This record gives sequence, C-alpha cells and structure tokens, in this order.
Amino acid sequence: MKPALDYTLDYKRLVAEGYNTYADAYQQARGNGLPAAIKWLKNRLPNRARVLDIGCAAGVPVTRELSKRFVVTGVDISAEQIRRARQNVRHGEFFHSDILALDFSTDAFDAVVALYVLYHIPRGEHERLFRSIHRWLTPGGYLLVTLAREAEEGRLERASFGAEMFWSHYSLPEYRVLLTETGFEILELHEENPRYPLAICRRGQA
Ligand SMILES: C[S@@+](CC[C@H](N)C(=O)[O-])C[C@H]1O[C@@H](n2cnc3c(N)ncnc32)[C@H](O)[C@@H]1O
Repeated sequence: MKPALDYTLDYKRLVAEGYNTYADAYQQARGNGLPAAIKWLKNRLPNRARVLDIGCAAGVPVTRELSKRFVVTGVDISAEQIRRARQNVRHGEFFHSDILALDFSTDAFDAVVALYVLYHIPRGEHERLFRSIHRWLTPGGYLLVTLAREAEEGRLERASFGAEMFWSHYSLPEYRVLLTETGFEILELHEENPRYPLAICRRGQA
C-alpha cells in the first residue's frame, strides 16, 4: 500500500486501465452476488422506472438484473467494461465516460445506483458528484451508494483481482454529513461488507 496524493498524476487513467486489462479477473472475483439493496429497489420502483448505474462495469449482474424491469443507463470509465456491458445487457444505454465529465437533464432518473465505484474517484470530487446526482434524480428518487467506514485521502493498492488501484474516500460519519448537506436522507445502511457499507438514500431538498 502506498499513499497516492500527487493529483498531477492521472489516477482515473490508472483505474480505467486496470479495469480494461484485468476485465476477466475482475468478473471472476466479482462473481454474481446481488446486494440485498437491489431487491429493495426492485420492490419500490414501478416498471419502466429510469435507473442510472454509475460504474456499471460489464453490467453483470447488477445492470442486467435492473434492465429486466427498468430502463437502464450505464456509465463506466473503462472502455473494455462498457464494451462488455453492451454485449451483456441487451436493453440499456451505455456511456464510456468518467461520470464527473457527464451531465444529464434535471429529474432524468428515478434511481441512481453507484456500487463499489465512489472509492475510485478522488474524494474531493464526491460532493460535486452528490450534487449532480441530486439534480439528475426526480424528487423522492433513490440513491444506492457504496461508502466507506474509514477515511483515506488517497492510496494505491493492488485489488483482489490483480490490478493496482487508486482508492480515496471519507469516513462514514463524514459521508453522513456530506449526504445530508447535499440533500439526501439515509434510509438504510447495509453492512454486508463492513469495510464498505452501502447506503440507501432518498433525495430530499438540497
Ligand atoms: C468495483 S467495479 C464495480 C462494478 C459494479 N458497480 C458492481 O457492483 O459490480 C468499479 C467500476 O467503476 C468504474 N469507474 C471507476 N471510476 C469511474 C469514474 N470516475 N466514472 C465512471 N466509472 C468509473 C470502473 O471502471 C469499474 O468498472
């Protein structure tokens, strides 16, 4: 593990190249487990609800599962992951992009899912991302987001699937403040992965 605090270096490129090069290994390590929060979402949204999946990777299992009932949009910074997502998920629209470089219209989505992705984005950008998601979501819309328990300004560490990865995140108490300030109410916290808890949030007023 090494500190990664030189922001003249392109950590996003390192992340994208890691998910490009280690796509098979990542898929194998990821497996097919669906977080309970996805079932939670499916029980709450009507058919044809609009769902954005940020960091959708190859679209399996999460985006594909969502696409069975909802109109899905997937975004991923890795070209190889998006190529696979387009193959794996027949009904969906996919964008190869850094999520911070994209914009959607106001009220474009009924839910936004961001599983295991925030921690690959420099944490100084998390507030801007939450504010964008708030604008993209319809009032009362849901955000499912993987957070972190401990704070980490920036580090480089090899992921379980083999690629050297960049990690950056706030602590859980800091995320509670940030989510409240950016207009979200945390409804539930799922701790299937205690190191990286998943928050189910509802969009309120900013
Ligand atoms: C650990 S995978 C999570 C995949 C999927 N959400 C899941 O639960 O299986 C993280 C994904 O986020 C993508 N990613 C990382 N930084 C990103 C960014 N700034 N914008 C969009 N996607 C990003 C990576 O390329 C990778 O495919």
